[in-house]
Amino acid sequence: MKLLLLGSGGREHALAWKIAQSPKIEKLYIAPGNAGTARVGENVPLKADDFDGIRRFVLEQGVDMVVVGPEDPLVKGIYDYFKADPELASVPVIGPSRAGAVLEGSKEFAKGFMERHGIPTARYRSFTAETLDEGLAFLETLEAPYVLKADGLCAGKGVLILPTLDEARRELREMLGGMFGTASAKVVIEEFLSGIECSVFVLTDGRDYKILPEAKDYKRIGEGDRGLNTGGMGSVSPVPFADRAWMQKVEDRIIRPTVEGLAAEGIDYKGFIFFGLINVKGEPMVIEYNVRMGDPETESVMLRIKSDLVDLLEGVAEGDLAARTLEIDPRSAVCVMLVSGGYPEAYGKGYPITGIDAVDDSIVFHAGTAMKDGQVVTAGGRVIAVSSYGTDKADALARSFRNAQKIQFEKRYFRSDIGFDL
Ligand code: AMP
Ligand code: GLY
Repeated sequence: MKLLLLGSGGREHALAWKIAQSPKIEKLYIAPGNAGTARVGENVPLKADDFDGIRRFVLEQGVDMVVVGPEDPLVKGIYDYFKADPELASVPVIGPSRAGAVLEGSKEFAKGFMERHGIPTARYRSFTAETLDEGLAFLETLEAPYVLKADGLCAGKGVLILPTLDEARRELREMLGGMFGTASAKVVIEEFLSGIECSVFVLTDGRDYKILPEAKDYKRIGEGDRGLNTGGMGSVSPVPFADRAWMQKVEDRIIRPTVEGLAAEGIDYKGFIFFGLINVKGEPMVIEYNVRMGDPETESVMLRIKSDLVDLLEGVAEGDLAARTLEIDPRSAVCVMLVSGGYPEAYGKGYPITGIDAVDDSIVFHAGTAMKDGQVVTAGGRVIAVSSYGTDKADALARSFRNAQKIQFEKRYFRSDIGFDL
C-alpha cells in the first residue's frame, strides 16, 4: 500500500515510524514532514492543508490511503473534499469529516455534544459580545479560578485560567472584543475542575472502536509544572491511576457515548479521537476533545502498540475495525522533549543539532527540524523527542534523560522532571 501521512511534527514522525514497520507498506510519503520523517519515508513538499496539491499528488502517485496528523486539514474539511471528488472518493482519509472535526474546532459544539449525550464535563455556558452582561453575571455564580475558552481554534492558546473575578471579567471583555480574532467571538465559561489529567486515545470506524494506550502529557515549560503552557514537554504511558476500573468508567461514560453520539447525530467519523480527561476524585470528566492524536503523547503511545497500525487503519477505512487486533506492550514508554531556549515565547531557529547518532537505547523523533546543507538544524520551538521503553516509568525515563544529554544545539532545554507527579 502507498500511504500519505500529513503533518510535520514529532507526532507525525512517531506515526511514520510505526506505519513504516508494517509489512503492508510499499511506500510511505509524508507531507511536508521534517528531517526525521525523511529517514522512514519520503518527504513531499506540500503543506498539510494544500488540498489541491494533495489531490494532484495522490492521483499521480496512486496513493491508497491518507492519514491526517494535525487538526487543521480536518477542520478545513479534507475528508469531505476527498469524498466529494469522484476521482478521490475511493481513497480513504483517516480522520473525521468536517462535521466531526467540530468536536475540536468549536468548544461550544463540544460542550453541547457532551450535554446531549450525558458525558461528564464541567458545567458551562457560552457567550458572545451581545450577551457580555450575562457572561459577567455568570462569572459571579462561579468560584475562583475562572476558566475562559475561546470557541474556535487558537493553536492551543485559547484557554485562560484566571485566579480572580476581576481578571476574569477583564479577560472576558477582551476575548469577546476580538483578542483571538473570530476564534473568540464566542467564549465558553466553565467551572474549574481540579485533578490530574490523562489523555485517552481511540481509533474508530464510526461504529466500533479500539482504545489505544493512554498517556499523560506535561504542558508547562518549567519543572514542577510551572510557567507558560507549551505544546507539551514530555509524556508518560501508562498512567498509574488509569487502572482497569477507571478505564472501565471512561469507556462506559465517555468513549461509548461519544462514538454512539456521533453516529446518532449522523456525523461521519473514521479516525482518532483524543479525550482530554481529568480525574476528579476518582471520576473521569472530559476537559476537551481533539480529533487527532496528541503531541507529545503519540511519541510514547506508538511505542506501546504491538500490532500493525496499518492493519488497524485499514479496519477503520473498511469499517471492520472490530475484526482487527490491537495488542498493547506491557512495558512503560516515555518521551522527553528537547526545545529551543525561549520557547514557548520567541526563540531562534537554524541551530545545528549534533549527537543524534550517539543515542543508544532510545528512539529519536524529530519535531521541529529541517535539513540545511546536509546538516540537521532546528526549525521549531519543540525540536526533538527522545522516547524510550522501560520496565517501569523510572527505567524508561532514565534512558531518555541520559540520551537527551547527548543531543546538543544552542540553547537546548528540556524538563528533567517528566513523570514527577505520578
Ligand atoms: P484545552 O485547550 O481545552 O486543553 O485547555 C488547556 C488546559 O487548560 C487543559 O489541558 C487543562 O489543563 C486546563 N483546563 C481546561 N479546562 C479546564 C477546567 N474546566 N478545569 C481545570 N482546568 C482546565
Ligand atoms: N498534548 C496535547 C495536544 O496534543 O493537544
